[in-house]
Amino acid sequence: MDRQNAFFNHITEGNKNKGEYITLGSAMLDGKTVESAFVNVPLKTMNRHGLIAGATGTGKTKTLQVIAENLSEKGVPVVLMDVKGDLSGLAKASPGHAKIDERHEQIGLPFEAKAFPVELLTLSEQNGVRLRATISEFGPVLISRILDVTETQAGIISVIFKYCDDNHLPLLDLKDFKKILQYATNEGKQEFEDAYGRISTASTGAILRKLVELEQQGADLFFGETSFDPQDLLRLDENGRGYINIIRLTDIQDKPKLFSTFMLSLLAEIYSTFPEQGDTGRPELVMFIDEAHLIFNEASKALLNQIESIVKLIRSKGVGLYFVTQNPTDVPEAVLAQLGLKVQHALRAFTAKDRKAIKLTAQNYPDTEYYDTASVLTSLGTGEALVSALNEKGRPTPLAATMMRAPMSRMDILTDKELNELLDTSKLVKKYNEEIDRESAYELLNDKIEQAETEELKEKARKEREALEKAQSKSSSSRKSTRMNPIVKVLTSAVFIRSVFGILNKVIKK
Ligand SMILES: Nc1ncnc2c1ncn2[C@@H]1O[C@H](COP(=O)(O)OP(=O)(O)OP(=O)(O)O)[C@@H](O)[C@H]1O
Ligand SMILES: [Mg+2]
Repeated sequence: MDRQNAFFNHITEGNKNKGEYITLGSAMLDGKTVESAFVNVPLKTMNRHGLIAGATGTGKTKTLQVIAENLSEKGVPVVLMDVKGDLSGLAKASPGHAKIDERHEQIGLPFEAKAFPVELLTLSEQNGVRLRATISEFGPVLISRILDVTETQAGIISVIFKYCDDNHLPLLDLKDFKKILQYATNEGKQEFEDAYGRISTASTGAILRKLVELEQQGADLFFGETSFDPQDLLRLDENGRGYINIIRLTDIQDKPKLFSTFMLSLLAEIYSTFPEQGDTGRPELVMFIDEAHLIFNEASKALLNQIESIVKLIRSKGVGLYFVTQNPTDVPEAVLAQLGLKVQHALRAFTAKDRKAIKLTAQNYPDTEYYDTASVLTSLGTGEALVSALNEKGRPTPLAATMMRAPMSRMDILTDKELNELLDTSKLVKKYNEEIDRESAYELLNDKIEQAETEELKEKARKEREALEKAQSKSSSSRKSTRMNPIVKVLTSAVFIRSVFGILNKVIKK
């Protein structure tokens, strides 16, 4: 048997599946595509996470698009973190291209142009389904991790949550959280001290400063109601195809804190609400995180630990996570070690550091008699990648330099008109985009402060009246010139001014 035939058999045998699978393209030998030597990924192992890596412009995002489309077609819903804003084209069929036809001829796979069911979501003011979560849902532990506070400060945050629970004060948005932090060291100082011990202003001040930092990255848009139900990510269209949920994050590149906060909350919410999956043979949901270095780069150690452990746990819920990034070293070791599918596009050897990275990357792939992995890594063309997946038994498939198939949908973005048409027909936009600001800790605390102050005021007025009456009975002759009208006194008192601000806050709010 010649080398070419042996290679064909090696790849075909290694990519056989009993259950459902998706096809990424055909394997290449000595730089040439071997027709119909299909490289497949079984659905069964797609909850085992993955990595799509490669230098800029080598085809990472198109690979993501291809995998997302094929999953959707198999009835698996998908979530895409669209950081560069280049994925909305999934909603429209590809116009086709001579180069695409040529590519597919080499692969031995007919090319079909298709549009996919797409939902657009957003974290900010961009058009799309608004993703929100309440502070209460986040809980004290997650909030503390995100704010990266000290142990003492984390203790205070727990006390605050406990107080709000005990007193039925809903913590919905950042405004609520800030209010209660201030209350704990001002008006409510005594009350907190009696119940939980003294809370220092230095600590609440430090927490407040961290909140402001988060707020400056736009977190005030994210925290609040209506909170997003992750079940809505699992929809199928009328033909049984999985929805492709594109989270538009183009304005988040300079807000890494908000991005990691959001990612972690979404994963935590999914983990806590999805049922354990037995061996269903297919993933429940697959999430792709493009430009993944953004969540890892600025994450604190505590946050990283949290992400690493949730990545491990979420597999059992049938959720696969795919990280897309230029260099595999952008992803923490503990996460890399858990990845099943690896699609490595070309790496460039410009510097000594690059060459070292190539050597390291090559070592992470299984040995093969057909490839010198390090040299293949630098010679792959655009839309070609080294692929290593897990077969249905969970063992690595033969390493294959792969000519990737082209996306069936458009490799470009939607026009504004197309975007608006898509949003107009969205059911979720109607469900989530109404602004709600129901009575929560902020309003309830203001009421409480106001009430306390009114009573204090009444008491003070009564005392003053008594004192006045006493004085009057003593000397009735001087009363005309020196007596200050009690109302004027009240109007200029600090207590009154504060209570007016309580009301003002309410008025401003409306
Ligand atoms: N599978 C493919 N089929 C057809 N063309 C492809 C494929 N992959 C990549 N290309 C071509 O290569 C171009 C760049 O691909 P892509 O945008 O996916 O690169 P990238 O690695 O994500 O780049 P960046 O790091 O800049 O985000 C595409 O616009 C397309 O023309
Ligand atoms: Mg890209």
